[in-house]
Amino acid sequence: MTGATNGGPVGQVVRRAGDGFEQRYGGPPAGVWAAPGRVNLIGEHTDYNDGFVLPFALPHRTVVAASTAADDSWTVWSEQSGEQIVISAADVARPGAVDGWGGYVAGVIWALREAGFAVPAARLAIASDVPLGAGLSSSAALEAAVLTALVDLGGIGTDRLPVDQRPVLAQRAENGYVGVPSGIMDQSASIRCRAGHALFLDCRSLQVEQIPFDLATAGLAILVVDSQAPHRHVSGEYAARRATCEQAAAVLGVPALRDVPVDALPAALNRLPDDTMRRRVRHIVTENQRVLDTVALLHTGRVREIGPLLTASHASMRDDFEITVPEVDVAVGAALGAGAYGARMTGGGFGGCVLALVDADAAGQVAAAVDKAYADNGFTAPVCFTALPCAGAERIH
Ligand code: GLA
Repeated sequence: MTGATNGGPVGQVVRRAGDGFEQRYGGPPAGVWAAPGRVNLIGEHTDYNDGFVLPFALPHRTVVAASTAADDSWTVWSEQSGEQIVISAADVARPGAVDGWGGYVAGVIWALREAGFAVPAARLAIASDVPLGAGLSSSAALEAAVLTALVDLGGIGTDRLPVDQRPVLAQRAENGYVGVPSGIMDQSASIRCRAGHALFLDCRSLQVEQIPFDLATAGLAILVVDSQAPHRHVSGEYAARRATCEQAAAVLGVPALRDVPVDALPAALNRLPDDTMRRRVRHIVTENQRVLDTVALLHTGRVREIGPLLTASHASMRDDFEITVPEVDVAVGAALGAGAYGARMTGGGFGGCVLALVDADAAGQVAAAVDKAYADNGFTAPVCFTALPCAGAERIH
């Protein structure tokens, strides 16, 4: 197990992006920007239902070293892929023209231009230690880091593009250019999170409240378990869940499932045509309430008491929303069996990560219990680390 902090890993990634820039482009960058991956403490699949989420930023970051360029294109080197690509203005103008990781970069330029901002041509070097495909928002971290860099390079200040309006642009890059129908949570987390806090986001109004989440003082830690489960049908299943939620809202005559309060749930369920839709709705409505209950407990410093809400969220994702896989269910069961206060899958599902609320000095023991359960089940060994809430997107220098 590794303990991730704000110190070591971040410094290394910053250096790698800076060194990569110098090697590729023969001089120092004008600046270096970073944006984090995230875990979501609670509130899953609620974002595209106009509901509530409570993510916090990880110490893992995507770092962009960049300078403006004289031509009308964007040259981008990615350490992770080992590729250097050139994105032309024509590529930017045609959503989907650039695929793979470059699509997120092109998408951000496209979204900024669509919103009326002049984006300077640039050279970029990108390094990251956000694990890819682990459900920790590596794509949102890339979008947020590139967006923050280009906004600064273009002299588009917070007066013209306030920080609270940036996540929507990053999401538009993903929805409109890359073609993934994700909600607003991941980009909001990567851009708006603060160190030591969880981000309570109302996904309808986009109002946020920074909720103090001082795990260290409480002697607690969040153990993150990367399940290493191969992602199965993620995008198709995600789109299917989203479509069912939208259909259910239409049947119920509400703009979004956010508008069904938990005490109106039994009556709402009676009006739905089939059992699958009823279970999907029950997950969303109860999950929104669990976020509100979690926030209320954190407001009064009762951090340990959020554990049962985390575990109930997992059961709801497993039984009602049906987005878990055996690897994450085993990790949750093993963590709880080893004394975690609560545990749940975090992120979109069908693999990805589990988080567990544990006593800080028991994190190693809980991780060992998960390792053993994986070995007993014949699963690929998981990757475990502890994480404290870190800062959102920022200029490093
Ligand atoms: C993915 C999406 C988010 C959100 C989560 C599930 O991470 O990108 O918008 O819907 O799944 O909570």
